[in-house]
Amino acid sequence: MSKAPLVIAIDGPSAAGKGTLAERLASHFSLPHLDTGLLYRAVGYLAEKTGREPAEVAAGLQAADLADPVLRGDVAGQAGSKVAAIPEVRSNLLKFQKQFSSQPSGAVLDGRDIGTVICPDAAVKLFVTASLESRAERRYRELRGRGGDTIKPRVLAEMAERDRRDSERAAAPLKAAPDAYLLDTSDMDADAAFAAALAFIEGKGFRSSGP
Ligand code: C5P
Repeated sequence: MSKAPLVIAIDGPSAAGKGTLAERLASHFSLPHLDTGLLYRAVGYLAEKTGREPAEVAAGLQAADLADPVLRGDVAGQAGSKVAAIPEVRSNLLKFQKQFSSQPSGAVLDGRDIGTVICPDAAVKLFVTASLESRAERRYRELRGRGGDTIKPRVLAEMAERDRRDSERAAAPLKAAPDAYLLDTSDMDADAAFAAALAFIEGKGFRSSGP
């Protein structure tokens, strides 16, 4: 069994299944989990709502700012993706993320630049992706399930736009770290994705200390 703290860095585009996978791995290995997308969503949403500078909002972000359920919606996702391209926003959120990842217990973080920028030395790096069509289909079902009134072509177009913005920006663009394990979930359900990730992590010598 490996003795190094287990830091699991999970990156990938939206609706590829990284959030669900991150939660399940955190629970399995009893690790704290940080959904870093929520930080950018909160900055984008609060900056739009208050008219304050995004970098200033990022510098003063509090844990309580992350609790608003509105942050889970696509409006906050788009707002988050816009402010995420601003280098000062990213640098103002860096320290908190680095501290979170340096806990003695280890940690699970998911986002876009975890394996490349936030935790380049993470013991485990996963890049979770899926085709645009299957991600849009999942997001459409999720939004409908929450009672949202939306149409599939719009979900697909907005997702393609966010993919493009996240991949083409100069500051910490979405890309797989060279040493990341690539997990394409287009034809996998959450159980299959978890099983594949777990097999990879156990192959590196990490085991759950639980029952
Ligand atoms: O993952 P989620 O959809 O919640 O992320 C919202 C936006 O925040 C993304 O579209 C991306 O632009 C940005 N983000 C980022 N770096 C991260 C996490 C999220 O740029 N580590």
